[in-house]
Amino acid sequence: MIGGGVLHECLADTGVQEVISIVRTPGTVRHPKLREIVHVDFMDFGAIASKAFTRIDAAFFCLGVSSSGMSEADYTRVTSDITLAAAQALLQASPEATFVYVSGAGADSTERSRTMWARVRGRAENALLQLPLKTFILRPALVRPMYGIASRTASYRRFYAVAAPLLPLLQRLFPQWVTTTEVLGRAMLELARHGASRRVLESRDINLVGLSDREATPNKTANSPASGRPALSAMAGIALIAAVGALAFAYTAGWLSPRRLTPVRMVDALSRRGGDPVGHRRNHAKGVCFTGEFASNGAGAALSSAPMLAAGRYAVIGRFAIATGNPQAPDATGRVRSMALRIVAPGHEEWRTGMNNSPVFVVSTPQAFYEMTRAQEIDPATGKADPRALQRFFSTHPESAPFAAWARSAPWTASYADQTYNSLNAFYFVDRVGRSHLVRWSMEPTTQESPVPPSSLVTLGPNFLEEDLTRRLAREPLRWHFIVTLAASSDPATDATRAWPTDRQRIDLGTLSVQRAVDEADGPCRDYNFDPTVLPAGIRPSADPLLAARSSSYARSFDLREAEAASYRRHPSSRGPVP
Ligand code: HEM
Repeated sequence: MIGGGVLHECLADTGVQEVISIVRTPGTVRHPKLREIVHVDFMDFGAIASKAFTRIDAAFFCLGVSSSGMSEADYTRVTSDITLAAAQALLQASPEATFVYVSGAGADSTERSRTMWARVRGRAENALLQLPLKTFILRPALVRPMYGIASRTASYRRFYAVAAPLLPLLQRLFPQWVTTTEVLGRAMLELARHGASRRVLESRDINLVGLSDREATPNKTANSPASGRPALSAMAGIALIAAVGALAFAYTAGWLSPRRLTPVRMVDALSRRGGDPVGHRRNHAKGVCFTGEFASNGAGAALSSAPMLAAGRYAVIGRFAIATGNPQAPDATGRVRSMALRIVAPGHEEWRTGMNNSPVFVVSTPQAFYEMTRAQEIDPATGKADPRALQRFFSTHPESAPFAAWARSAPWTASYADQTYNSLNAFYFVDRVGRSHLVRWSMEPTTQESPVPPSSLVTLGPNFLEEDLTRRLAREPLRWHFIVTLAASSDPATDATRAWPTDRQRIDLGTLSVQRAVDEADGPCRDYNFDPTVLPAGIRPSADPLLAARSSSYARSFDLREAEAASYRRHPSSRGPVP
């Protein structure tokens, strides 16, 4: 919530030229001044330091989780270690910049409090104040959310829902204890511009500093949004480390629980399945980029306010791939094929989706996906995976039976063009009056399926899929119907191993045309992370735990391949991604 409020103030401030928001999972705010960097490993900002922390005037650190249910070690990790990692990165890249850390009222500078969170917060503050940086510590008590900004932590949301009518009164009675997200954000900007006489600011000080620029603008009321703000002295950029929501998301997905499955562990396992994945996606590692467009017929507009569901034509960047960890894998080994899309509407709203050609996913939880991945690891002694390990996995995971049946019986083909691609995870379409509709979506080809026995595929060479695609597109664009399926109330929202009955209502949203293929090394999809939680207004993720795991793992995979880009060379004649 604080991160969201501070972001709102930074974007509204006419003197701030750019805001770089560093998040673990993509946010929903789009703004011409906002550049978002999705970064998973908050213990190490090295890979993004040059993009995130150079040529900036200030870094605002607004990350925080509730200590409830956390061990001191985990809470220290989130509260102190991550803060220091960010401050160190700033120190290296922009030593003149200001670091503003949002701590909390009651933090104990003596570090001896009996209350765990107060001790840990105090320790973090003290460590920060030791660094040779212009650092300010803010200790707000009760923060009143403004402009519809809500906490993404359910317990805080419940608290604010109950306390909302009382907060304005409390603010008048106890101004020293209550502040607002607006005043907090303004105070942070003021500290970055002019500093303050003290380095640790309690709630009362925050209000004094945050309201000081307002007094210079008589026609502005307490609730007035950006319009009335004065053009304050310019600031080139602000890095905002605002992972509150994202981290809460990760926490509910179990990433921070004691025997946690982290994106780092997940992606490490995905990287040990053969070939040389360095520089490449750690799953669906072999693929080809394409460009095209989605011609929406407007039939989805009654179900979702997503701008690309209004009738019109929308640009698409996409990627076909086989689900392998090995970028050099022969195409005949890719049982699962995929289509990933980024559909863009005017105003920069985007819809990213990754779909597979299986009708169901192989597992329903991140933990099971991890175990299956471990069973596919290459044994360095034999150079092969142990086939018994995968058999053992399937014999202990009955939920994988529908996927295994499809893998055994579905026809193989020699083309990406004749496959149906399915979202598998469920999402909500949200209509204009705020009603949510549980849906899954699919791309159904207009190209007739042509089965080819697997033994014949082997004779087509290692790269027949990309070759076939290029040949077909040289003749004409390829088309798919974009079909959305509406769930009935008995259909599972959070289990991608279970197909919904075939009689569910289906709506054809329009036609995807794939027009041009470009080799991935030089192609426009190369630097995109098709994170399925990057969604436009009007579509939101379901609570399927695979979605949170996908989002954080794709970001980790993206970070790795971006840092390893020198190991995945563009073709010598290429000067950059071909649009
Ligand atoms: C816990 C479950 C999963 C994990 C950990 C996982 C992990 C990954 C990773 C690390 C990548 C590479 C991302 C990148 O570097 O850009 C990837 C790609 C992909 N995954 Fe998953 N995945 C999971 C579940 C799923 C599911 C349920 C689907 C369903 C359709 C799916 C479809 C895809 C597709 C289509 C791509 C390729 C995207 C592209 O072409 O860039 N994944 N996955």
